[in-house]
Amino acid sequence: MSDADRTAATETEVETTMSEKPSQVATLPDEPATGNETKVRIRGLTKEFDASGRTVTALHQLDLDIPRGQFFMIVGPSGCGKTTLLRIMAQLDTPSSGELEIMGSAEGRPQNSMIFQGDSIFPWMTVWDNASYGLAMRGVPKAELRDTVGHYLDKTGLTEFKDAYPHQLSGGMRQRVSIARAFANDPDILLMDEPFSALDEQNKTLLQAELLRIWDETRKTVVFITHSVDEAVTLGDRIMVMTANPGTAKAFVDVPFERPRDVLDLRQRPEYGEIVYEIWQQLRDEVSRSQRSAREATPTRRRRFRR
Ligand SMILES: Nc1ncnc2c1ncn2[C@@H]1O[C@H](COP(=O)(O)OP(=O)(O)O)[C@@H](O)[C@H]1O
Ligand SMILES: [Mg+2]
Repeated sequence: MSDADRTAATETEVETTMSEKPSQVATLPDEPATGNETKVRIRGLTKEFDASGRTVTALHQLDLDIPRGQFFMIVGPSGCGKTTLLRIMAQLDTPSSGELEIMGSAEGRPQNSMIFQGDSIFPWMTVWDNASYGLAMRGVPKAELRDTVGHYLDKTGLTEFKDAYPHQLSGGMRQRVSIARAFANDPDILLMDEPFSALDEQNKTLLQAELLRIWDETRKTVVFITHSVDEAVTLGDRIMVMTANPGTAKAFVDVPFERPRDVLDLRQRPEYGEIVYEIWQQLRDEVSRSQRSAREATPTRRRRFRR
């Protein structure tokens, strides 16, 4: 399945799950923001997959609280269950056991929008149609749709490309369309799975700065997966470092930098380097453990030659 198809599936499934939520997921009535009220509450979350008769425990007994309006980052070795966790939060998958509560979802708005690593947009639609897709599906009045989509295309520097098709845009511009669409959609939570990891360093830095600028207007609750420790410290309020095989929370690191942030200025600060180092300390053992188990699970040709 292509990323665009998966997005289409995501949006359709999310539409469906808005009324029919899996039994483990509870949505409570909306409450006024108090600054530290919990938006996402996870207790004892375990997810097992059946992989050709073998049980793979992707997530094990995960506990997590994310306050409303927090920019929450997840880092962890490849295969530790990050995408699985995000898919469960998006209600595209159900936990094997444990609880997930998403508090205070507003009526008539989608609970979440998801942005993936690859293209999350429809290749057959223009930039404008892609960005307005969620609102059009919800039957938002034309004038409101025009204002909202116009605003986010402006914010992402895409106004003059509104009639272009995705194949006419660079990878960075296509991710901008995803960002414009996600914010225009006005979801309760924004779920982002390594959205910038396919971009070169310069584009990544530009997009991080743009994302922070747009996010500052709304301060939506964001759950953002990255494999880049730098990106986690640059963007996040709080970072969860995950263990490898099975995945669970190993450490939580708070990022003390004020908002709004200047992405480049931040990197010069001594505290920036200290936090990056602290996270690497936590991550190092997990990365080697995950590489070791990947080697053990794969009977390589090299090993056979050695005998
Ligand atoms: N649909 C599935 N069926 C079987 N195993 C899966 C499935 N989805 C994920 N897994 C396994 O669960 C573990 C976590 O995967 P994933 O959440 O994609 O990790 P990450 O995003 O951290 O790289 C991996 O071992 C992966 O192979
Ligand atoms: Mg993943």
